[in-house]
Amino acid sequence: MSKKLVAYFSASGVTGKVAKTLASAIHADLFQIEPATPYTDADLNWNDPQSRSSVEMRDKTSRPQVKNKVETMEDYDTIFVGFPIWWYVAPTIINTFLEQYDLTGKKVIPFATSGSSGMGNTNAELRGSCSGALLCEGQRFASSIGADTLKAWADSF
Ligand SMILES: Cc1cc2nc3c(=O)[nH]c(=O)nc-3n(C[C@H](O)[C@H](O)[C@H](O)COP(=O)(O)O)c2cc1C
Repeated sequence: MSKKLVAYFSASGVTGKVAKTLASAIHADLFQIEPATPYTDADLNWNDPQSRSSVEMRDKTSRPQVKNKVETMEDYDTIFVGFPIWWYVAPTIINTFLEQYDLTGKKVIPFATSGSSGMGNTNAELRGSCSGALLCEGQRFASSIGADTLKAWADSF
């Protein structure tokens, strides 16, 4: 039996809700990627070029620190990684998260929520952070996505 993990970062709860539905639909373990410094509303203001998220997302080498760690990553062979789309890609804290582990031979499957954007260039930005893993083409979901649709999608990998 393959063991699955759903790991997610969610700044305002939307991706968190989808991640929880997914994990419960496929009987996967759930892990919340917590920033060492939580994002405030001001940090998330994309209209402000000086806000924390704007500054981080302009610098593709930024690696916001993660507070917590999956202690038994070696147990998992399939990792669903969820996040909000920020500036058409994954927040750079997802790079930080992936780079903490040896993901060789594991399947990494991104999923996201967004205002309307699709996955865009997400995988191009994530590939270097999960070398040795099979990085699958992910999917953006509406916040209202149901458990059955999520399960059918997850089972297709
Ligand atoms: C800094 C920032 C950048 C964003 N950039 C995009 C974007 O490029 N395209 C889009 O459709 N939505 C964008 N959004 C909206 C989020 O992707 C959307 O609200 C998401 O569902 C939030 O998920 P969360 O509650 O899990 O953080 C952005 C939000 C923030 C805070």
